[in-house]
Amino acid sequence: MNALLRFLSIPAQLLSKVPGLGPFVKVLSTTVGQKILMAITGLSLCGFLVAHLGGNLKLYAGEQAFNDYAHALHSLGPILAAAEVGLFATFALHIGLAISTAAMNQVARHKEYAIKETKQGLFILPSGGAANWMMLTGLLILTFLFTHILDMKLKANPGVDYSAAMNADQVIDNEFRTVRAVLSTPLNAVIYITGLVALGIHLSHGVRSALQTLGINHKRWNLLLKIGGILFAWSVATGFISLVVWAMAYRG
Ligand code: HEM
Repeated sequence: MNALLRFLSIPAQLLSKVPGLGPFVKVLSTTVGQKILMAITGLSLCGFLVAHLGGNLKLYAGEQAFNDYAHALHSLGPILAAAEVGLFATFALHIGLAISTAAMNQVARHKEYAIKETKQGLFILPSGGAANWMMLTGLLILTFLFTHILDMKLKANPGVDYSAAMNADQVIDNEFRTVRAVLSTPLNAVIYITGLVALGIHLSHGVRSALQTLGINHKRWNLLLKIGGILFAWSVATGFISLVVWAMAYRG
């Protein structure tokens, strides 16, 4: 684990030598600094999810309305491309920081156990609690995302029948029908619902935890913030899940 940590810290060591970046990199090489950046990237991704859900709910407005929306989005050209680069960088940073802080916590915990073990003897079990669930649900969301990009962005999932979305030249050019074909494929419906339930669990803890990391934390408001986080998480997750149910119902 120490060797892995040393390896993971190479980019930080190199960056800290760049003039002006030193103090910034030093903060980010601490668990606290990384947690702050993880909170900021996590909340930014929540912003993306709200916008993404808002756009996708246009599916309920019908084929023409959704295709017009998709067309307007794609006509942004370089602006959309820049936003996509930013989005993928934010995802990558969030995931990288999750791995890095988990590794650092693991090392800290091992040290703690070594001390505890000498004092208390046997039966000290590692328990990551919510953090373990965050890692597991995060991995499920990542698996979902790989499938999702293959399905919707690359339109190249061999398990999906895209024929209804093709034009006369066999080019897939109908976004509404693409989404419906993707979501109504039974294996995909299972992968999507699993990923979206994992998203609900992840955000239920993640939103509250991110706000706390950023200092949004007060005895009087804590319960409200906790309930707000859970409501937000499950509104987003069930909003997306409703689209899978809708596509499956249409299929049947
Ligand atoms: C039923 C649920 C969902 C539907 C119907 C849906 C629909 C879509 C569609 C149609 C696209 C392609 C957009 C384009 O061609 O530019 C897309 C892209 C994408 N979706 Fe989703 N999405 C869903 C859930 C999610 C969730 C939960 C996440 C994140 C955890 C997510 C993350 C992304 C990302 C990162 C892209 C690529 C963005 C881009 O490059 O423009 N989606 N989605």
